[in-house]
Amino acid sequence: RGKRAFIAGVADDNGYGWAIAKSLAAAGAEILVGTWVPALNIFESSFRRGKFDESRVLPDGSLMEIAKVYPLDAVFDSPEDVPEDIKTNKRYAGSSNWTVKEVAESVKQDFGSIDILVHSLANGPEVTKPLLETSRNGYLAALSASSYSYISLLKHFVPIINPGGSSLSLTYIASERIIPGYGGGMSSAKAALESDTRVLAFEAGRKHKIRVNTISAGPLRSRAAKAIGFIDMMIDYSSANAPLQKELSAEEVGNAAAFLASPLASAITGAVIYVDNGLNAMGVGV
Ligand code: NAI
Repeated sequence: RGKRAFIAGVADDNGYGWAIAKSLAAAGAEILVGTWVPALNIFESSFRRGKFDESRVLPDGSLMEIAKVYPLDAVFDSPEDVPEDIKTNKRYAGSSNWTVKEVAESVKQDFGSIDILVHSLANGPEVTKPLLETSRNGYLAALSASSYSYISLLKHFVPIINPGGSSLSLTYIASERIIPGYGGGMSSAKAALESDTRVLAFEAGRKHKIRVNTISAGPLRSRAAKAIGFIDMMIDYSSANAPLQKELSAEEVGNAAAFLASPLASAITGAVIYVDNGLNAMGVGV
């Protein structure tokens, strides 16, 4: 049987989640995605209208299929956690069962189990503010959406991930080196995500034989990255200074994700894998 993957954080065809879905589909996996509730309608209608058809093409010429799109808001674990203003919000009222616990239950009902879990989402409402000017709420919101969301996803999906399965997230080097402009506690959120990758690898490995890794990706002009405001500069900086002087394509990250999810990586867990044209290895720009 082919493998089944659930990828949280796909809402268009520009980000890493989409590219990872494609690489996994090309390797024969069945694809389920979790899409942020407020972005669901536009994603589904664009998909139906054929807006993504060009970027759905797989190496064998066929189009990537998505077996099911689940509405998801990874900031809420179960219905009890959802505040009134969100419940009654127009963009949420049309969807149901989108808390993490409910999504895992729906996937279990629909498909029974999965083999691969991917977390490709982040959000920091104050990302454009320096850390020194970040509010407590902004900081905690960044950690909630970008770090705890992963713990919650893994916690709720673990019972339906087959032994030998693999879990993956996306991180950024701002966790360990100073990247001015990556603010609002997002650098802190990535540091937490990387530390949690090690602890979760231990816990999920011992208990469930599941591997847990994170990809530290180089800059990509995704919707989320454009919102931060310095992505073009980061791409130019990387092209100028990295060992490999080419623009990073999302597909290169997708392919690394497919490798990490495959039996070829059966002894790799608890790792931060750099897919960044080698930029992380530089000490100075030259
Ligand atoms: P993206 O915009 O394609 O993906 C982010 C997704 O998160 C969006 O689909 C958004 O709808 C979703 N999202 C936000 N809040 C959510 C919530 N509460 N519940 C569910 N979904 C939610 O952008 P990108 O850049 O591909 O981001 C994917 C991952 O890659 C993120 O973890 C990001 O930090 C990471 N990354 C991105 C880099 C870049 O340069 N684009 C570099 C290194 C890491």
